[in-house]
Amino acid sequence: MMDIAKYGPWALVVGGSEGVGAAFARMLAADGFKLVLVARKPAPLDELAEELRGAGAEVRTVSVDLARPDALERVRAATDGIEVGLLIYNAGANNTRGRFVELPEDVTQSVIAINVLGQANFTRHYGALMAQRGRGGIILGGSLSSYLGSPTLAAYTGAKAFSRIFSEALWAEMAPLGVDVLHLNIGFTATPAMQRLGMPVDLAETPEQVAKEGLENISKGPVRIVSTPGNLERARLINGIDNRAETVLAHAIAPREQTAQAAREQRELAGG
Ligand SMILES: NC(=O)c1ccc[n+]([C@@H]2O[C@H](COP(=O)([O-])OP(=O)(O)OC[C@H]3O[C@@H](n4cnc5c(N)ncnc54)[C@H](OP(=O)(O)O)[C@@H]3O)[C@@H](O)[C@H]2O)c1
Repeated sequence: MMDIAKYGPWALVVGGSEGVGAAFARMLAADGFKLVLVARKPAPLDELAEELRGAGAEVRTVSVDLARPDALERVRAATDGIEVGLLIYNAGANNTRGRFVELPEDVTQSVIAINVLGQANFTRHYGALMAQRGRGGIILGGSLSSYLGSPTLAAYTGAKAFSRIFSEALWAEMAPLGVDVLHLNIGFTATPAMQRLGMPVDLAETPEQVAKEGLENISKGPVRIVSTPGNLERARLINGIDNRAETVLAHAIAPREQTAQAAREQRELAGG
């Protein structure tokens, strides 16, 4: 049960229409939070909002592409004047792989805008207001990929590394101000975004488990690696400072068609 006096009354879920974001929204609504949900596609946003309103929650929605320079301004139009005590910045998956110098500029710029500038800008705005109130929480969406630069995912892995390191520093800065910060480090998860890419999600973590671990560990930052078997072991395997050349070449994120095999191997790490 989330403490609404510390983290409420409003929660802002950026990337809150489906998958992990929707799971956060459902859990928070059940705990009595009011919600502002942000995503691009209006239909899934409206559908979730209706579901949560049906269960008694007050819900606002904002349809915006976070890669736009005015994304924060558009979200602020829905939040100025209400108390956002919890910011969950969940959006940020990558759907296009390729060499950095060959990918269209808008693809890599968008990954960086959403994961780096977006997390920084939303945190600055909502974090400052939380600091003034002396209470609140911020969960930044991260990834196991933040521990290793992977070819064909240079912008994404670099952006997630930013998120993790940024979160650690923020966690230390914000704790004395009464604001919790958590980088939620996610492994392979069965979200609609992954399903749309044709990924074999039967071996993936559920969005509900990821969201549950995020909420339960919000005060235990700076980083929570979701407890799917093999996640922690993989993070340890790829995070050392020695032999980076070898590590990058041996343990880079597998090509999409090898995802099922990579997920099985990662789970085996936990047993071995
Ligand atoms: N799924 C995994 O296996 C996995 C693994 C490691 C880390 N993660 C991290 O977990 C988070 C959630 O990933 P996900 O798989 O659910 O996919 P996602 O594409 O990040 O989608 C999550 C939510 O964000 C919204 N969103 C995505 N791009 C947006 C944009 N440009 N502007 C506004 N809203 C946007 C989506 O709705 P719309 O599409 O309608 O905008 C959806 O509600 C991400 O930060 C991702 O990096 C996921």
